[in-house]
Amino acid sequence: DKKAEGNLRSPICCIMGHVDTGKTKLLDCIRGTNVQEGEAGGITQQIGATYFPAENIRERTRELKADAKLNVPGLLVIDTPGHESFTNLRSRGSGLCDIAILVVDIMHGLEQQTIESLNLLRMRNTEFMVALNKVDRLYGWKSHRNEPIVKALKRQTKDVQNEFKMRLIQIITQFKEQGLNTELYYKNKEMGETHSIVPTSAISGEGVPDLLLLLVQWAQKTMIEKLTFSNEVQCTVLEVKVVEGHGTTIDVVLVNGILHEGDQVVVCGMQGPIVTTIRALLTPHPMKELRVKKPWDFYQGSVPLEMRSSLLTGLRPSGQLCLSFSDAAVGYEDMLASDWGTYLHHKEIKAAQGIKITAQGLEYAIAGTGLYVVGPDDDLEEIKRSAMED
Ligand code: GTP
Ligand code: MG
Ligand code: NA
Repeated sequence: DKKAEGNLRSPICCIMGHVDTGKTKLLDCIRGTNVQEGEAGGITQQIGATYFPAENIRERTRELKADAKLNVPGLLVIDTPGHESFTNLRSRGSGLCDIAILVVDIMHGLEQQTIESLNLLRMRNTEFMVALNKVDRLYGWKSHRNEPIVKALKRQTKDVQNEFKMRLIQIITQFKEQGLNTELYYKNKEMGETHSIVPTSAISGEGVPDLLLLLVQWAQKTMIEKLTFSNEVQCTVLEVKVVEGHGTTIDVVLVNGILHEGDQVVVCGMQGPIVTTIRALLTPHPMKELRVKKPWDFYQGSVPLEMRSSLLTGLRPSGQLCLSFSDAAVGYEDMLASDWGTYLHHKEIKAAQGIKITAQGLEYAIAGTGLYVVGPDDDLEEIKRSAMED
């Protein structure tokens, strides 16, 4: 019904897992295919997050012949880095999301940060499903681009199917050792008790439609209350960054409500509460335009973490040092966007979205804390106190 439709916000999904399991590549896979097929339309590379409008999800999952309707306006996906030194970013990401994808490399099984991620998700009672990625690395795998996984598996030789089964059983056992029940999603009869596993390839796209559909359907089926749009702003600072021409900015995830240019806001600062006014609400342009120059293509995965920063610095057309570079997974596309001055300005933005905010006095803002909007009837002192409690 139309009413419920208009009332839901986009679910926020966080992608987590061990380093190099293919988290970013999975996102690239979804975005890339849409771009190639000329569907870039509404896909926007958000700040540390990617927004997928329902239209694109519908298009991407058509082959699954899902009759269920998509009631949410879209899906906001937050990528997180898997490297061990970024526990804080993983924690921040998992703290924001409604639902998560835990990515496991089928060739490696559960690894150190898989277990760390798992514990973060459990601690917060976050629903999650497992993407069992890199199925194309099974010896002898025949690729069928972007095919639903059941169909793709049926087309493999007996040897490939057996290797798949063997590895799947091992991984289900590893999860069991962590106290979790898991099962292939199309065999899972107890969703909610048993976590679903979706086999995927981020390279050839098998299982990716399944993953998208399962995520959205599960979210809109079980989280209606949580996903109901509210005018009360719920917003978290993801990162604090210096951006050429904008000074210190904050990247936020707007979980609920609407932000406007000119809103008076309060954020937690190292030297006390920061009271300021939103000067600009920015998002990067759609992927299509960012993809014109794509230096991250060759950088993907194979470059050691220590080198990433300098590599990308070298690529900047301005030749200047990037002051705020933390990791590729959260923020590098954003950095690239700033280099080409491609930000889009918005008068107002509705949740859920990833947004860059420019305002005065953000130098000492603290990432991971809340952003509060001061309404006409609000007590500023009280809001300042709330902000500092974060
Ligand atoms: P971090 O953000 O550093 O934790 O890594 P990540 O999990 O985002 O992994 P990323 O997407 O950077 O992929 C790591 C490497 O694995 C890259 O070389 C990818 O090309 C490769 N890769 C990712 N997914 C797949 C897959 O499904 N199949 C194959 N064969 N390779 C993959
Ligand atoms: Mg990554
Ligand atoms: Na990587």
